[in-house]
Amino acid sequence: MPKPKVSVFGAGHVGATTAQRIAEKELADVVLLDIVEGLPQGKALDMMEAAPVEGYDAKITGSNNNTDVAGSDLVVITAGVARKPGMSRDDLLAINARIVGGIAADVAAHAPDAIVIVVTNPLDVMTYLALEKTGFAPERVLGMAGVLDSARFRAFIAMELGVSVKDVEAMVLGGHGDSMVPLPRYANVGGVPICALIPDDRIAALIGRTRTGGAEIVGLLKTGSAYYAPSSSVVAMVASILRDEHRVLPACVRLDGQYGIDGVFAGVPVVLGAGGVEQVIELELEADELAALQASAAHVGETIEKLKTMA
Ligand code: 2OP
Repeated sequence: MPKPKVSVFGAGHVGATTAQRIAEKELADVVLLDIVEGLPQGKALDMMEAAPVEGYDAKITGSNNNTDVAGSDLVVITAGVARKPGMSRDDLLAINARIVGGIAADVAAHAPDAIVIVVTNPLDVMTYLALEKTGFAPERVLGMAGVLDSARFRAFIAMELGVSVKDVEAMVLGGHGDSMVPLPRYANVGGVPICALIPDDRIAALIGRTRTGGAEIVGLLKTGSAYYAPSSSVVAMVASILRDEHRVLPACVRLDGQYGIDGVFAGVPVVLGAGGVEQVIELELEADELAALQASAAHVGETIEKLKTMA
């Protein structure tokens, strides 16, 4: 049986590391696409030369031609400009909208059956744009943010308690920005709620660090943003779709009335399988949690309106 085909747009750190993780897990053959001549070809060849040592059989090719997306089962869009210190994700709106809009149109033309995962920031708005430009069904266009934000929260909980990350579960909903909604009530270590293990003021500190987790990395790196955890997060979603795992993961999807949010994109728990978003899970939220999720979605809605005035 031929391997599935995944096209990754953007051969920067996030895109290339995503390609590497997909190949190392032998999830699919990968086409790495970028406008910079030689960059995707060079990184793809380097990964092919790592294959005998690592022992993976996936094929990785590089291309500057978006028509090479043809035949893709899944497309990951990471292309765009990353934040510099002091910038918010929304500051990237105009420039990344041009890049993601163009790619989405090419995906629609050449890979009409693909499922699309958007990674480019501002994430929730770029996911909206990809849905608009592809015209695909909403269950086939989603954004990666919730897995990353939840992974950061989980990592910080594990560090705080000195326990294995493997036993820490947590869920962060909402937009991928300062208004994201970590849900400490649903966070647990081996099934034990974190509120029974960590004092309130420390939970609040971990939540604060999660909210600014991306900016913390940007501040340290200075010349770019995070890519190890972002690529891990998108590949977890890729695996659940390609292997039809039906994992329950938070993802940015268009809500149609769930959580009282209509027609706006926000991060919520979904079931991911071969069809893409197979189900949106509606958690029981307390009034303040629901209000925070709706406020976060409202911020995304405002940025979408801003984008529309730029067109
Ligand atoms: C992050 O949170 C780049 O938005 C991404 O690190």
